[in-house]
Amino acid sequence: MKIYSKKQYESKVDRTRPQRMKWWNEARYGMFVHWGLYSLLGRNEWVQAIECISKKEYEKLAMQFCPKPHSAREWARLAKNAGMKYMVMTTKHHEGFCLWNTEQTNYNAVKTACGRDLVAEHVDACREFGLKIGFYYSLMDWHHPDGARAAHDPAARQRFLDFTKGCVRELMTNYGKIDILWYDVARPFHSHEGWESLAMNQMVRSLQPHILINNRSLLNEDFTTPEERVEAAESGREWEACMTFNNVSWGYMPSAACDRHSSRDILNMLNTACSGTGNLLLNIGPAPDGSIPQEAIEPLITVGKWLKKNGEAVYGKLDKSNGKASACGNFSRKGKKVYFWCRYWPGKELTLGGFKTLLKSARFLINNRKIEFEQTKNRIILKNMPLRNPDKSVGVTVIVLEFPTTPRHDVFDNTPALHI
Ligand code: GLC
Repeated sequence: MKIYSKKQYESKVDRTRPQRMKWWNEARYGMFVHWGLYSLLGRNEWVQAIECISKKEYEKLAMQFCPKPHSAREWARLAKNAGMKYMVMTTKHHEGFCLWNTEQTNYNAVKTACGRDLVAEHVDACREFGLKIGFYYSLMDWHHPDGARAAHDPAARQRFLDFTKGCVRELMTNYGKIDILWYDVARPFHSHEGWESLAMNQMVRSLQPHILINNRSLLNEDFTTPEERVEAAESGREWEACMTFNNVSWGYMPSAACDRHSSRDILNMLNTACSGTGNLLLNIGPAPDGSIPQEAIEPLITVGKWLKKNGEAVYGKLDKSNGKASACGNFSRKGKKVYFWCRYWPGKELTLGGFKTLLKSARFLINNRKIEFEQTKNRIILKNMPLRNPDKSVGVTVIVLEFPTTPRHDVFDNTPALHI
């Protein structure tokens, strides 16, 4: 295969990106799934490193990891009901245990207690429930004998690169069309040259021309991945915030259940992602038997029900709408339409500051009921609204403001100092 220079490669990737990313931009919301041997211990996916568990002892877990068949169907069904549009599963986390039928190592789900290809089950479940398919793959590997010494031993490096490319090639070859390749932790090398990412990702794209690749193989590729914070990337970059369900662990951790996100928290993250035209990849860490942690179910379903009625403010092509107009909520925007997500209901009147374009109409998204309003030079005052928040499920009501043109909203003009 001819390997293109970084410049040539990146210009092609840039050129094809808008078309490749269209579905992703419109999807907005996906499920991340962290699942592996660490799930058996329930103390974070880094447990092997943090608790200094020897390789020999840790390996024994492979003889206990035997989840219920087709657990992935349960996750996919939940993701679908939660309004998520894609699902990214760990095919191999830092521990090095491969969840698919790889020829690169026997340390995999098919050749140990489980005896099944869990990546195939994930793929099947996504297809059954109409979700796009993502593979997470950790470059760092604590199990491979060369995983650490590759840093200073050229022969070990070559073996480790061959292993890595072999794994990635299998994942890109054996399961039909894959939509996302989600690399993680590029240790022990510190550059894309170290990993030969340029050659590896060109191979990936030759096998899966439509694929989206994240930025963690030390090349920019298609999107940036803020972790545990929902925050837009630098301008011009696509981004996806990935979030744990409990601020503590990606892998199953029952003791962290009390710190779970509520449905309101999730909507807040989603709102921030929408205003910055980014995506939200929200994680669940299934139990070792594959079942979904109980604490995730209710909030996800509640958000799913909310999205069924308010999805217009979330899905489809959005435009950037950063900036405050009220402390009662936040926006998303589609061209001339602004969606104000009101999460702190102010009572009968709601004032939005900073809009300089004449408003055409205001209404509730959920039932199209018109809202009366007054507009001054830089304030819109919505009037005669219900006393209490009409949304009884999560307390987030979406109000649609329609303008005749793209609204001018001056974020800086409405700082308190300038009003005095
Ligand atoms: C971090 C962690 C890892 C997790 C990942 C998800 O890099 O090392 O455990 O899988 O973030 O973004």
